Amino acid sequence: MADLASDALRAAVGRARGLLRDAARVVVLTGAGVSAESGVPTFRGPGGLWKNYRAEDLATPGAFTRDPRLVWEWYGWRRSIVQQCVPNAAHVALAGAADRRVFRIVKQNVDGLHVEAAQSPAAQPLELHGSLFRMRCTRCTARRADRDVIDATSLETLPRCTACGALARPDIVWFGESLDANVLGEAMELASHADACLVVGTSALVHPAAGLADLTRRAGGAVIEVNVADTPLTNDATISLRGPAAVLVPELLAPDSDA
Ligand code: OAD
Repeated sequence: MADLASDALRAAVGRARGLLRDAARVVVLTGAGVSAESGVPTFRGPGGLWKNYRAEDLATPGAFTRDPRLVWEWYGWRRSIVQQCVPNAAHVALAGAADRRVFRIVKQNVDGLHVEAAQSPAAQPLELHGSLFRMRCTRCTARRADRDVIDATSLETLPRCTACGALARPDIVWFGESLDANVLGEAMELASHADACLVVGTSALVHPAAGLADLTRRAGGAVIEVNVADTPLTNDATISLRGPAAVLVPELLAPDSDA
């Protein structure tokens, strides 16, 4: 554990490793911070603003109705960044753990890096908020995977539905929209029956995702938080670890080779 800055942190990581090792079922909730060390900007905090807009001002149905060009320009910008990024040590460690045991990743991110890190179906994340690399029609039900550069120079150049020709939109759950009921139901079920919930790199401000850790806690499970800053979950967490995900998550999940 050479990268861990203090004895207190090393001890807390040791305790958290024990909780995770003893947990028969683990659910992991991740947010933008898990991808920070891959170079993906978070939504809030330093670097979270884009041209003076906040995510909450752009990721809404109202924003898209008012100015679809602006919203697509933002998503095109996020896409172009993410396409140059690769999964970091946290994504890889989480995918590896999901291959070895009952361990399910529930992600808020739309960057696709957990999907890229997954080496098996067991490591595929449950996707709460959608994907930057899918779009769906604003008129019919068509959805499609898409990794092209977004041309948002004018309304005419924006992506269109290949089935009916109407304007397409990112396949992302926006503020004010409901999560897919099946996906949310599965996430709640996992969280309610988990012996431990590992929460990585989320500000825990956006519900219902932020409430998942509470389901585990109320059912008697442990909540382990990894974040560079305090969040609304910190006080109630069983263990809260301060530090970057790409350092702490591999430490938490490394197999006990020295045992
Ligand atoms: P936020 O940008 O709100 O929060 C990122 C969190 O990551 C903060 O708590 C940071 O302190 C933490 N963080 C930053 N760097 C880190 C690092 N290297 N290691 C560990 N933690 C780090 O992102 P989310 O909580 O994911 O919704 O935001 C939730 C949702 O709001 C997103 O899914 C998105 C957004 O609007 C949609 O796109 C629908």
